[in-house]
Amino acid sequence: MISIESVKNEYKNDIKNSLDIDKIESKYLSRKGYIAQLFKSIKDMSDDKKSKYGQQLNKLKEDIENYIVKNKLSKDIQDNIEINPVNSVDISNQLGSLSPISRLIFKIQDIFAELGFSVAIGPELESEKYNFDLLNIPDNHPARDVWDTMWVQSPDGIKSLLRTHTSPVQIRYMENHKPPIRIIAPGKVYRYEATDATHETVFHQVEGLFLDEQASIATFKGVIEYFFKELFKQDIKIRLRPSYFPFTEPSFEIDIRIDNKWLEIAGAGMVNRKVLENGGIKDKNIQGFAFGFGVERLAMIIYKIDDIRLIHSADIRFASQLGKIKL
Ligand code: DAH
Repeated sequence: MISIESVKNEYKNDIKNSLDIDKIESKYLSRKGYIAQLFKSIKDMSDDKKSKYGQQLNKLKEDIENYIVKNKLSKDIQDNIEINPVNSVDISNQLGSLSPISRLIFKIQDIFAELGFSVAIGPELESEKYNFDLLNIPDNHPARDVWDTMWVQSPDGIKSLLRTHTSPVQIRYMENHKPPIRIIAPGKVYRYEATDATHETVFHQVEGLFLDEQASIATFKGVIEYFFKELFKQDIKIRLRPSYFPFTEPSFEIDIRIDNKWLEIAGAGMVNRKVLENGGIKDKNIQGFAFGFGVERLAMIIYKIDDIRLIHSADIRFASQLGKIKL
């Protein structure tokens, strides 16, 4: 006799052993597949058993369907895009849709909203003061080299830049709001770098800032664990490694465990006292944490894409195919 539990275990094993995607589909989702078999046994159950069983089974079915869509698509997309350049596709009668990145950002906002975070935004054209100085990265600080900057000179000689990260929004928000503060700040950032499969000159980050009298590293871990668990719809192991950022002390890299690998996914730390003061927060009882991560990097994991440039390819087929993946 098969049960939801036994099918789930077998499915997990098949994924682990990278069983061919078509085989998985026919084994679990075909007319005589395991899921169909499990659905059959519903009719002999009492009503209250039925609904619980149905829910569990539907959940498993959805998980498997999602897995199949994702894995088929990533293969499809990569085969297809090279064969059919964008301008060979007639899009005159197609409706537009949100880009995969916007959808992911909305999902991220929803998850943080459950934890009481609201959304703040800041300008993409920034000053040196907000992008660097107030974040404790003074001129000539070696850490400035980490952020290859695109400088902008306006006709009146004022030098600005395209923000290299979303961290300046921390300062802008502190200047105008009193703690407690719980915000995320999504948006575009710019780096003067060559592009390759994992780097783009324009990409998106989500910044987070959490300040109050109690916010500790434990709070931080709780928030970040909850976030990844909700985003990936499974328990995600996270690991904090000591790191260095001028705006946090101590600083960490956050790694998450996916497919038996540790992936570096975000920078974070307890907000440096100097940064709090630069934002106008003088109360010594206020403390907290900040973090920042790249949205495209997460998107590559979630949508299973191995080249970041595909994400910004402006190919409508790409967006609409990824649109089928439920977040
Ligand atoms: N701004 C950093 C970057 O772009 C990421 C980051 C690290 C943001 C640590 C933070 C933080 O808020 O605390 O590389």
